[in-house]
Amino acid sequence: MARWLLQILIISSLHLFSLSNQQETRFVYENFTNLYLDKSAKVLPSGLLQLTTASEHQMGHAFYKKPIDFSSSGSLSFSTHFVCAMVPKPGVEGGHGIVFVVSPSMDFSHAETTRYLGVFNASTNESSSSRVLAVELDTIWNPDFKDINNNHVGIDVNSPLSVAIASASYYSNIKAKYESMDLLSGKPIQVWVDYEGTMLNVSIAPLEVQKPSRPLLSHPINISEIFPNRSRLFVGFSAATGTAISDQYILWWSFSTNRGSLQRLDIAKLPQVPHPKAPHKKLSPLVFILPVVLAVVVLGVLTGLYFRRRKKYSEVSEKWEKEFDAHRFSYKSLYKATKGFSKDEFLGKGGFGEVYRGDLPQGREVAVKRVSHNGDEGVKQFVAEVVSMSCLKHRNLVPFFGYCRRKRELLLVSEYMPNGSLDEHLFDDQKPVLSWPQRLVVVKGIASALCYLHTGADQVVLHRDVKASNIMLDAEFNGRLGDFGMARFHDHGGNAATTAAVGTVGYMAPELITMGASTGTDVYAFGVFMLEVTCGRRPVEPQLQVEKRHMIKWVCECWKKDSLLDATDPKLGGEYIPEEVEMVMKLGLLCSNIVPESRPTMEQVVLYLNKNLPLPDFSPYTLGIGTFAPVLVDASSLVVSSASWNWSAPSMSSSSTNYSPYACQPTDQPWGQTIDTKNSLHLVAEPEKPKVLSPAVKTATSPAEDPESNLSSLSSQR
Ligand SMILES: *[C@@H]1O[C@H](CO)[C@@H](O)[C@H](O)[C@H]1NC(C)=O
Ligand SMILES: *[C@@H]1O[C@H](CO)[C@@H](O)[C@H](O)[C@H]1NC(C)=O
Ligand SMILES: *[C@@H]1O[C@H](CO)[C@@H](O)[C@H](O)[C@H]1NC(C)=O
Ligand SMILES: *[C@@H]1O[C@H](CO)[C@@H](O)[C@H](O)[C@H]1NC(C)=O
Ligand SMILES: *[C@@H]1O[C@H](CO)[C@@H](O)[C@H](O)[C@H]1NC(C)=O
Ligand SMILES: *[C@@H]1O[C@H](CO)[C@@H](O)[C@H](O)[C@H]1NC(C)=O
Repeated sequence: MARWLLQILIISSLHLFSLSNQQETRFVYENFTNLYLDKSAKVLPSGLLQLTTASEHQMGHAFYKKPIDFSSSGSLSFSTHFVCAMVPKPGVEGGHGIVFVVSPSMDFSHAETTRYLGVFNASTNESSSSRVLAVELDTIWNPDFKDINNNHVGIDVNSPLSVAIASASYYSNIKAKYESMDLLSGKPIQVWVDYEGTMLNVSIAPLEVQKPSRPLLSHPINISEIFPNRSRLFVGFSAATGTAISDQYILWWSFSTNRGSLQRLDIAKLPQVPHPKAPHKKLSPLVFILPVVLAVVVLGVLTGLYFRRRKKYSEVSEKWEKEFDAHRFSYKSLYKATKGFSKDEFLGKGGFGEVYRGDLPQGREVAVKRVSHNGDEGVKQFVAEVVSMSCLKHRNLVPFFGYCRRKRELLLVSEYMPNGSLDEHLFDDQKPVLSWPQRLVVVKGIASALCYLHTGADQVVLHRDVKASNIMLDAEFNGRLGDFGMARFHDHGGNAATTAAVGTVGYMAPELITMGASTGTDVYAFGVFMLEVTCGRRPVEPQLQVEKRHMIKWVCECWKKDSLLDATDPKLGGEYIPEEVEMVMKLGLLCSNIVPESRPTMEQVVLYLNKNLPLPDFSPYTLGIGTFAPVLVDASSLVVSSASWNWSAPSMSSSSTNYSPYACQPTDQPWGQTIDTKNSLHLVAEPEKPKVLSPAVKTATSPAEDPESNLSSLSSQR
């Protein structure tokens, strides 16, 4: 009991106990006091034995000061168990390794660093006088020494060339197989070296693992042969670095010449292995902040791009549009087709918006009209109407393909008409003059299209805005009617700035306000259009002399003077068949008769134009012929009246010369050139009886005036 107590006392006070009698040497190091140390080896305050610090070309040795006397023991044997750790410097290759050494001397001044591990030197080999037994944990691959890799365990006898070598691994008693280990992990590694008889066994294992039941290396060694004539041998450790460096530590060491009495390891008592964090700490602000900043920036840019893209291509789609899916284009496809609505593809600016040319996949050339609107009111009906129009097929209609909806914007896709609109050819001096036969073809074509709309389709379709700027010319200069329902849609949208609403002054039949749109009002507009094409002038031109200002009146005056051909477009240069021109002019006057009942139907118009039917008998003095009775709106009272138009001095808004050529100022009337009666449908179930919706009258103001005031009075009216 007393002896046992004494032992405890010795262990705890000296941290070392060595029982040396004749048979047995055993000791255990916990805090490594009283060791032989040289070179870089030192004991740290925490109780760690550090063999090398993390700097280049170092070596360190630590030996148990007293030689082990093997001669006295009957059978030569020893066992040792130690815990070591090799901690590589961050960013630097780790090396070179730790060696357990059995040597007749503690003097290793001749030894070299790096691959000689502080034990051997360049000329050391088997034949030399060096006598040493070493067990190496090598973390550098030296092909010179026939190393197998940079993570191996070897038994060296007198030479760095191992007599036995194995890749670092341990036999897992549980899994019953060898598990590989990383010597340079920086984690503590247990090592057992057992010598008995003529076998030297070496095992390694992670700290938490029991001693493997099978050694990693088992090699026959006769220590008596290695150290002849020597019975007193020193045991200890060596470690070295080169350019490959690591902190190499021994944490705990137990040794005994009697395997059975080897001190057991108490893991809880092991000191902590320091891991070099200093470089990390220095880097930390950058290492942590930089990626975060980068990530934030990248994320920001990506989300920015995403939202820009989303905004760029954003569309509006509602449930009711499901049925029109086939006619719906994605904004992205239109954006790409028009090269991002580039200037190069810009075709023109109409009253409703800008028109761009575009190339869709499969070589389809389209015209895309961007119509801006202020609200969603009326959009649904308009889309429905426009889409249903796409089933109308006639060679003199502009084929409509589909649409796309965005916030406050509607895009209408139709076939591209390479020759632009008719009014450009009539009024633009840059464009070649259309010959009379070409004009007649256009007039006949549009007549046929209107006739089809009024009678040929399942339902009566009213165009409501027949005029030269709404007639397009295809590649063969055939006239094609376009822009269905645009005017009315714009009334719903409430865009007062546009000059062309339902009907355009000069083309609007006087009864439009009171009776609403009908096939008759289309015929009236067509009559004005025919005169426009023949005379090469706009219906109302305030800058002309009083007698010429108003086209219908003037043509009629010419007829009265028996010089109808005087009204012909001077650009034609007299190259026409007089009978044809006269016939078209008279038909124009007949169609623009202010008495609706006196106008022919479109079917009759087609017959007259094709000379299948002679014109009825009428003269310039016939009632309703040659009378211009524009629709007048008194903005203050919103009382609608028909009266004769008195034109004041020319006053054209320069900004609207192209597309509001009919903006003229009456002497005693407020601005009221654009009038929309909202009371008709394009599509009505019963032919010839358009359904009348809530009639309302709207005035649109010129850009010179404040549109808001009129808008508000309009909305209050509604
Ligand atoms: C080893 O040294 C450390 C620090 O000096 C000390 O805390 C510890 O108690 C020592 N261990 C033993 C077994 O004395
Ligand atoms: C052993 O020594 C000889 C002579 O010094 C030398 O030539 C040979 O390379 C050495 N062998 C090893 C393995 O170091
Ligand atoms: C190498 O070591 C041996 C002893 O092991 C020594 O005799 C010899 O001088 C050493 N050679 C050099 C070059 O240091
Ligand atoms: C060495 O290993 C062999 C094979 O595993 C075993 O038979 C022998 O007892 C071991 N010797 C020592 C000293 O551990
Ligand atoms: C070991 O070597 C010594 C000396 O060479 C020899 O006497 C002994 O028999 C050897 N032991 C064995 C087990 O071979
Ligand atoms: C060992 O000692 C014997 C005599 O005691 C001697 O003959 C022999 O040469 C020595 N061997 C060595 C390697 O020193």
